[in-house]
Amino acid sequence: MDFKLTEEHIMIRDAARDFAKSELLPGVIERDEKQEFPATQVKKMGELGFLGMMASPEFNGGGMDTVAYVLAMEEISKIDASASVVMSVNNSLVCWGLDTYGNQAQKEKYLTKLTTGEKLGAFCLSEPEAGSDATSQKTTAIENGDHYILNGTKNWITNGNSADYYLIIAQTDREKRHKGINAFIVEKEWEGFDIGVKENKLGIRGSDTHSLHFTDVKVPKENRIGEDGFGFKFAMKTLAGGRIGIAAQALGIAAGAYELALEYSKVRKAFGTEISNHQAIAFKLADMHTSIEAARHLVMKAAWDKDTGGNFDLSGAMAKLYASKVAMDVAVEAVQVHGGNGYVKEYHVERLMRDAKITEIYEGTSEIQKIVISRSILNK
Ligand code: CAA
Repeated sequence: MDFKLTEEHIMIRDAARDFAKSELLPGVIERDEKQEFPATQVKKMGELGFLGMMASPEFNGGGMDTVAYVLAMEEISKIDASASVVMSVNNSLVCWGLDTYGNQAQKEKYLTKLTTGEKLGAFCLSEPEAGSDATSQKTTAIENGDHYILNGTKNWITNGNSADYYLIIAQTDREKRHKGINAFIVEKEWEGFDIGVKENKLGIRGSDTHSLHFTDVKVPKENRIGEDGFGFKFAMKTLAGGRIGIAAQALGIAAGAYELALEYSKVRKAFGTEISNHQAIAFKLADMHTSIEAARHLVMKAAWDKDTGGNFDLSGAMAKLYASKVAMDVAVEAVQVHGGNGYVKEYHVERLMRDAKITEIYEGTSEIQKIVISRSILNK
C-alpha cells in the first residue's frame, strides 16, 4: 500500500490551490452575500481544465483519474464551495454521465463543449415530490414520432439558470415504474423550457439553484441517453460517482475551516498567551485534524475504487456520509475557536459552516447514504 500522491496529482492539487487563492478568494464574501454566481471564475475553471477533468481527451476532457478530481475539488472547496458545486455537477454528474453512457454523436455535440466550460451542464432528477424518493418521477416525456414531449417541474437544480445543457430524468412509461424512466439531454433555448424561481439559500449562495418548468418541450429521440428504460440506472450510477465529488467538497470545507482555526489559534491571545496554548483549543484542533484525516482516507479510497473497478457505490456513500458530518462538526468548532470573530463574515468560517450543511443533503441525504450502505452490507 502506498499513501503517496504521484507528481501529477501534486501538480493538479497545487494548481487548484493557487487558482482558489488567486481567483476565488477575492470577492467570495460579497458573492455569498449577494447570491452572485461566479461566472468569470467558472469560465476560467473551464479554460484551466477543471470542468471536465475525468472526461476523455477525444471530447476535450482531461482524461484524469478520480483521485486527481477529488484533490482539485478539496482545494477549490476550501475557499469557495459555491464554485466547487458548479465544478462537481459539471464534472461528475454531467460530463462523466455523458462520457460513460452517451453515444458518439451526443458526445461530439454536447460533451466537447461541456468539458471546456464553453457550455455548462445541470443534472435534473429532483422534483417537488421526488427528492429522496427518486423513483416517484412526475415529469413525463411521452413518445411522439421522432420526439418525446416533455412536461413537468424539476426542483433545486444546481446551475439552474447558468447551465446551457440539462440532463433531465423523466417518466416515459408510468406502468413500468423505475424501468419506464429515461434520461435526456435538453437545451435551455428550446421552446417550452422555463427557468423558475431562484432559491434564497442558507449556504453555497454563490451557486444558482432554481426550479425548472417544461411545457410540451420537444426533445428529439436522439437526445435520449442509453437504451429505452435506462434512465433510473443512469441517474443512480452517475450519482454514485457524484457522491465522491460531494464527499471531496465536504472534506475541503472541513479542511478550509480547520486551517483558518489553526492559524487564528496561533495569533489570537487570551489570558496572556496564544489560544493554541490552551488545552481546550489544542484538543479541538487535534479532534478536527484527526477527523479530517479519516474523511480524507474514505474519500481517496472511494476515488481509487472508482478508478480501479471497485464498489464505489458503497465507498462513495460511506465517504459522503462521513465527510459531510466532519464538515459540519469541524466548521462549527472552527467558529467556536474564533469566538466572537467566528460569527463575523470577514473571518470566513461562518460561511463555511453554512456551506457545510448542504453536503449532508444534496446528492442523497445522509439518511439515503445509510440506506445505500446498509443494503450493500446486508446484500439487499
Ligand atoms: N447503480 C445501478 N443501479 C442502481 C443503483 C446503482 N447505484 N441503485 C439502484 N439501482 C437500480 C436498482 O438495481 C433497481 O433496478 P432493478 O429493479 O432493475 O434491479 C432500481 O435502480 C431501483 O432501485 P431501488 O429498488 O433500490 O429503488 P428505491 O426506490 O428503493 O430507491 C434510493 C433507491 C437509493 C433510495 C434512490 O432513490 C436514491 O438514491 N435516492 C436519492 C436521490 C438523490 O441522491 N438525489 C440527489 C439529487 S441530484 C443533486 O443533488 C445534484 C445537485 O444538483 C447537487
